[in-house]
Amino acid sequence: MIYLKTAEEIELMQDAATLVSRTLGEIAKWVAPGVTTLRLDTIAREFIQDNGGKPACLGYGGFPATVCMEVNETVVHGFPGNYTLRDGDIIGTDTVVELNGFCGDMCYTFPVGDVDPAVMQLLRDTKESLAVGIAAAREGARVGDISNAVQTFVERRGYSVVREMCGHGIGRKMHESPEVPNYGRRGIGPLLKAGMCICIEPMVNLGSRNIVIERDGWTCRTKDRKPSAHYEHTIAIRHEGPRVLTTFDYVRQALGDRFI
Ligand code: MF3
Ligand code: CO
Repeated sequence: MIYLKTAEEIELMQDAATLVSRTLGEIAKWVAPGVTTLRLDTIAREFIQDNGGKPACLGYGGFPATVCMEVNETVVHGFPGNYTLRDGDIIGTDTVVELNGFCGDMCYTFPVGDVDPAVMQLLRDTKESLAVGIAAAREGARVGDISNAVQTFVERRGYSVVREMCGHGIGRKMHESPEVPNYGRRGIGPLLKAGMCICIEPMVNLGSRNIVIERDGWTCRTKDRKPSAHYEHTIAIRHEGPRVLTTFDYVRQALGDRFI
């Protein structure tokens, strides 16, 4: 069942999306060599709570933290802990905020200090693949059009796209129908209608697309241990076109000329 949101509900979604965007802007201020992932998680949790939101990942299916930490080969769902960021790492931070009964979901992958040029390019290209996916999310198109746009963009550049994890519908719950895969054929899948709210979140690997789940049951990493990048926006389908509810503007403000 796909829930179409009214204009009023989309404004509530906007508030949740703005708070999650501001939360990643807070994290951005602290990402640097020497900082632990647990510190970043605490900063995010306190910021969300101080602003009247609920950290929706905390306790979700037993997930033990506010933010999923995706260091280097970690694709998604890594736990915060005592790992200390090092020069040359990349770290994806993915979190969901609930505010006024609606959810906003966003992910941003940061370079830490001086990062290998090929990995920097992976970050830029993954971010651009998200923009390409969003551009395909028009009323009257199908989910497969988004999937195909992302996959085609990514694979033309020589990367691979993770298949086991998908984007998703979002609203009162963080995961609603439909699934939004990052690979697939044009013209297939659910029809996109005005009022649908979805998350598009390409997970792009420098090496092969294969993943493994660690023994903690959550942490998903690349099988070949090469880096993986991940960006995510929450969007609403409108008659006028896709409306991106989350924004990287707060991250941009925090990073200044280090923003990529
Ligand atoms: N953006 C992630 C997702 O859509 C957030 C969920 S993390 C979880 O899967 F820990 F809550 F599962
Ligand atoms: Co998501």
